[in-house]
Amino acid sequence: MNEELIKHIREKAVEDGVPVMEEESIDYLKNFLKDNRVTSMLEIGTAVGYSSIVFASFIEDLRIVTLENDEERYRQAVANIENAGLTERITPLLADARQFSLSQKFRCLFLDGPKAHNEELYKIYRDNLTDDGIIIVDDVYLYGILDDPQRKIKRRLRPLVNKLRAFREEMLSDPAYESTYLQIGDGLLICKKRENKSNE
Ligand SMILES: C[S@@+](CC[C@H](N)C(=O)[O-])C[C@H]1O[C@@H](n2cnc3c(N)ncnc32)[C@H](O)[C@@H]1O
Repeated sequence: MNEELIKHIREKAVEDGVPVMEEESIDYLKNFLKDNRVTSMLEIGTAVGYSSIVFASFIEDLRIVTLENDEERYRQAVANIENAGLTERITPLLADARQFSLSQKFRCLFLDGPKAHNEELYKIYRDNLTDDGIIIVDDVYLYGILDDPQRKIKRRLRPLVNKLRAFREEMLSDPAYESTYLQIGDGLLICKKRENKSNE
């Protein structure tokens, strides 16, 4: 395990103002991925590699392709993945996930990139899921704002809040998935494909 390194990566990210998953969410997810025998993941939003290093350190047969469009963060991720000894199983790519495509199939699509574009990213990458695929979306709680209809929302935040709410509702009501919304960390949405249902 890379416990000391992981602790250091997290502390440095917080110090540098790089957003990384909340500890409660990452602890839940790594166990969820292991229990569901997930061995391949496409992650949108590498940042400095923290989440992918935690997952791949915890699950020894997990392979991850992860996309990041910020060059400085990508470079730090490459160095962190090397230090963690995980270059064989984590492939970081410097790419704008909104302009990218790949043909590989993954058991899990983890959306942890630009929140306002979750729906667009879901539509780009849903065909990369295996038949028993799982979509996980982080930050669907947005500090409680999304679940409090009475709350006054700053004008500039309204488009984001509306988009996040709409996407969450769309996924929760889509019969093609068995979906769960968990109020842990900053909110996790977990959608498991149901058998024999199309995405259309
Ligand atoms: C919340 S952070 C990811 C945290 C990371 N998963 C972790 O927990 O260690 C979101 C990342 O998505 C990246 N991002 C934003 N827009 C993107 C895009 N269009 N394509 C790829 N990455 C993007 C940001 O630069 C940021 O580093």
